[in-house]
Amino acid sequence: MRQLKLMNVVGARPNFMKIAPLMKAYRAQPEIAPVLVHTGQHFDERMSDRFFRQLGIPDPDVNLGVGGGTHAAQTAAIMTAFERVVQERQPDAVLVVGDVNSTVACGMVAVKEGARLIHVEAGLRSFDRSMPEEINRILTDSITDLFLCSEESGRQNLLREGQPAEHIRLVGNVMIDCLLEHRARAEATQVLEDLRLEPGAYAVVTLHRPANVDDPQALGNILIALEHIQCRMPVVFPVHPRTRKNLWEGAHRDRLAQMANLRLVEPLGYLEFLKLTASARVVLTDSGGIQEETTILGVPCLTLRENTERPATCELGTNRLVGMAPLRIIGAFEEVLAGQVKSGQVPPLWDGKAAERVAGILAGYGR
Ligand code: UD1
Repeated sequence: MRQLKLMNVVGARPNFMKIAPLMKAYRAQPEIAPVLVHTGQHFDERMSDRFFRQLGIPDPDVNLGVGGGTHAAQTAAIMTAFERVVQERQPDAVLVVGDVNSTVACGMVAVKEGARLIHVEAGLRSFDRSMPEEINRILTDSITDLFLCSEESGRQNLLREGQPAEHIRLVGNVMIDCLLEHRARAEATQVLEDLRLEPGAYAVVTLHRPANVDDPQALGNILIALEHIQCRMPVVFPVHPRTRKNLWEGAHRDRLAQMANLRLVEPLGYLEFLKLTASARVVLTDSGGIQEETTILGVPCLTLRENTERPATCELGTNRLVGMAPLRIIGAFEEVLAGQVKSGQVPPLWDGKAAERVAGILAGYGR
């Protein structure tokens, strides 16, 4: 039997819950010989190691240990280190997930070294080139050999861009596989007790997009909205390292000190965060993945962005784009409290079996 030497890449937090179900699904396919490479883009215990433990991801075969830096420095460091690994190990194919700098950096190296490139979560487009992730998505897809799409919009975008239909497969959402698998374990965590929260009676906030947290005015506007919301119910805000750097600057610091009902906490583990969102009254976020998770959990999601690369969450799910203007955020929050919420449906193939489909496709890809 000719095995497919498949090198899988993870780098940043949102990659871990996508790779976990894939690594598990490969076990049922003897035709696949997987290797796991961690670029080290995210490196804190709280942003990386804990996810490996909670999700049962095998230890990476290789850790490039690149850490943070400007986009160019980080991308270049990943490329330089990954090139050596690909040259040494000669994979037949490299599988990348999502849209982070590790995705595009390893994708470029793979193709130039003659490996086939497989992109999980291919074709998503926000049509907003000011987002670094949009550039990463466009560049990665422009050199991908096999496109594995999580939602129909991805397939349509790729066809519109001229990619051949026979290279595109709608497989569903591997991140939702992870959520469904760990839902019961998440329920058993004590996070609500630890934070003294009542189910259904609090809001969750996450913010980390550069457009929201690196620009003091944009962050200030969001804090105006949070000032209002925390008067209405407790607000839990697990703070991302990028956001932490900016939150305590000048005027923000004084404003935060006044918000007695806003709980700033360290980034949570996967299971704790899943339980926290599943029991929330409403989630306010600028994350991509959380838009999808809230859709499955049936929890109203207010996305603090003007666009989304995940339109299924708005068209079918519980997500609503509300932008960053304080009055719009407050208005949308009050509507949720008044019971004006979408009931939401599960998008096609977000059924917990996406990784199985991917592994099935890849088992035949070696020949
Ligand atoms: C990255 C991804 C983004 C994803 C996000 C999830 C890119 C372009 N962006 O953004 O798409 O939604 O991850 O978190 O790839 N840091 C730490 N400890 C860590 C990780 C990061 O202190 O474990 C610091 C870094 O040094 C850096 C900052 O946080 O200063 C931001 O990290 P970086 O990887 O550059 O991008 P993110 O904002 O996390």
